[in-house]
Amino acid sequence: MTIPDGIHTGTLTTTSGEALLVVDHISLGYGEGADEKRIIQDLSLEVGYSEFVSIVGPSGVGKTTLLKGLSGLLKPKAGEIVIHGEKVTGPHPDIGVVFQDYSRSLLPWMTTRENIAFPLQGKGVGKAERNRKAEEALTAVGLEGQGDKYPWEMSGGMQQRVAIARALAYNSKVLLMDEPFASVDAQTRFDLEDLVIDLREKLGVTIMLVTHDVDEAIYLADKVIVIAEKPATVVDVIETGFGTHRDQVETKADPRFQDARGRILTRLRK
Ligand SMILES: Nc1ncnc2c1ncn2[C@@H]1O[C@H](COP(=O)(O)OP(=O)(O)OP(=O)(O)O)[C@@H](O)[C@H]1O
Ligand SMILES: [Mg+2]
Repeated sequence: MTIPDGIHTGTLTTTSGEALLVVDHISLGYGEGADEKRIIQDLSLEVGYSEFVSIVGPSGVGKTTLLKGLSGLLKPKAGEIVIHGEKVTGPHPDIGVVFQDYSRSLLPWMTTRENIAFPLQGKGVGKAERNRKAEEALTAVGLEGQGDKYPWEMSGGMQQRVAIARALAYNSKVLLMDEPFASVDAQTRFDLEDLVIDLREKLGVTIMLVTHDVDEAIYLADKVIVIAEKPATVVDVIETGFGTHRDQVETKADPRFQDARGRILTRLRK
């Protein structure tokens, strides 16, 4: 199986109609046997090529647990995850993760270039190529020429851009993001939201972003997946229908945005 040529935004499945990521009736929990704490039960979803999917749900419902499952860090108790036709059995090169807490995820003794290039070493990429990829990723996130700076010389928003650049340099098909903009101020948050929309459009990368911010979920996504209940499962899926264009003022005033917002908030209040 190969990815079709000319992937671009809006190409949600291959010509044969298959999805990039298929989550098939998975259950996730912590502990074993009688001591197990079940967090996610019988959850299924599909993500298309270059699709932007937001996952929204109340605090503590199991959003991070779901991402741990999708990234291969937590083994499902039941069900399976298939990416590009291949079953996920552990951390997978096609799946990159951007964690919420960038201040802990970047290594302070390495420059931003080294932070981005370092994981590529494990992939067997040579030094010159690692640095070239790091430079390219820095440019993609608007930090061209800033590779010599240390993370602690940068603002929170810039550090989060570096964390995104690191995931991009790895060339994963899917980027999983866990509340990636939670610890920055409102304006920086809007800038970073627009940056990931732009990256999706330019690079055709598939993005799954977890947030408890309903407005952010709708603004970014082609498809919003609402998870709720205990144990958690998918309770609603909303196609936003915005296409590729987004504008912080216009899109949020769009009647479709307001409808989606009402529907999700009502569902979450149940
Ligand atoms: N390593 C762990 N061992 C045991 N229980 C855990 C572990 N990690 C998370 N949990 C539990 O799993 C449940 C879901 O946690 P999770 O972090 O996935 O929620 P979340 O939706 O991401 O919450 P938030 O919105 O606060 O980030 C919580 O009850 C939490 O206490
Ligand atoms: Mg979480």
